Amino acid sequence: MKSELYEISKRAPPLHRLRRLRKSESLRLLLKETRLSSLDFMYPIFVDERLSEPEEISSMPGICRHPLGRLNDEISQVIALQIPAVLLFGLPMRKDARGSEAYASEGVVQRAVREVKKAAPQLTVATDVCLCQYTDHGHCGVVHNGNVDNDESLELLSRTAISHAEAGADMVGPSAMMDGQVGAIRRALDERGLDDTLIMSYSAKFASGFYGPFREAAESAPMWGDRHSYQMGFPNRREAMREIEFDVKEGADIVMVKPALSYLDIIRDARTQFRLPLAAYNVSGEYSMIKAAGLKGWLDEKRAALEVLTAIKRAGASIIISYFAKEAARWLKEAQQ
Ligand code: PBG
Repeated sequence: MKSELYEISKRAPPLHRLRRLRKSESLRLLLKETRLSSLDFMYPIFVDERLSEPEEISSMPGICRHPLGRLNDEISQVIALQIPAVLLFGLPMRKDARGSEAYASEGVVQRAVREVKKAAPQLTVATDVCLCQYTDHGHCGVVHNGNVDNDESLELLSRTAISHAEAGADMVGPSAMMDGQVGAIRRALDERGLDDTLIMSYSAKFASGFYGPFREAAESAPMWGDRHSYQMGFPNRREAMREIEFDVKEGADIVMVKPALSYLDIIRDARTQFRLPLAAYNVSGEYSMIKAAGLKGWLDEKRAALEVLTAIKRAGASIIISYFAKEAARWLKEAQQ
């Protein structure tokens, strides 16, 4: 016996049946609006001058710090998986108040850049330009009386960018959130004839709880205080657009929103308001929380990771910087077979 309500609904059937669009796997594939590919990814690599063997980062399962002279294996995997770019971070032998290893011509990143470029000249090599891994206080610039001095830091960030570019980096990524850093670096590079080096600016970088595992990995946590006087506050959406706007005016080639997952609205805003290529950084904590839940059996790591990465692309990012890059590239390859 059909109920009376069923009879009523029969008289006015749905006009639009979107389920038609989802009725088979081939149709679903055909109609997919966002296609994630290994070509969307940039893979971060940590290089540690103090190591002779790779060492796994305990809070980031599957991710290692690598010794100099031993990057070939990582680079050949990246190339085999058709990931077009890497982003290098360094851990130096020594730290001091002015982060001098950040801009030493034989510093860890400078040597790593030469090594990677020699192994794979076709791979795009980007570098993180910041002082926090190199200063003994762990802040991203020069400190005077407990304050991070903006303009004095610009000189050191420019020196760092020049030394990376001279080592052969294709792209430098200023991430210190100092005002005017993009303009200062652009002028410094151009004056030395390094006008071919791209600047990918960490434009809207928020002071985030999701950087925790990275700070363990890079030993870059501030010794005192926090980064709230230079990194952005997460409640602020309009201010993020101002940060990006000034970086565009100062000559950035690519702008970035970081982190990604809690900032999809910022990525979308940036995509609609600016025409530059847009990068989004799927940061360490975003990686670790999926890994941890996956290891505990609380969620399916592969499904969750691909969902997050696709969402970042759907929001409008053209480059996704992610620790999942290699694994995701493998999963995507399997899915095509
Ligand atoms: C350096 C820097 C940080 C990250 C990238 N570059 C850490 C920070 O600002 O403390 C975070 C990356 C990640 O969490 O994956 N300034």
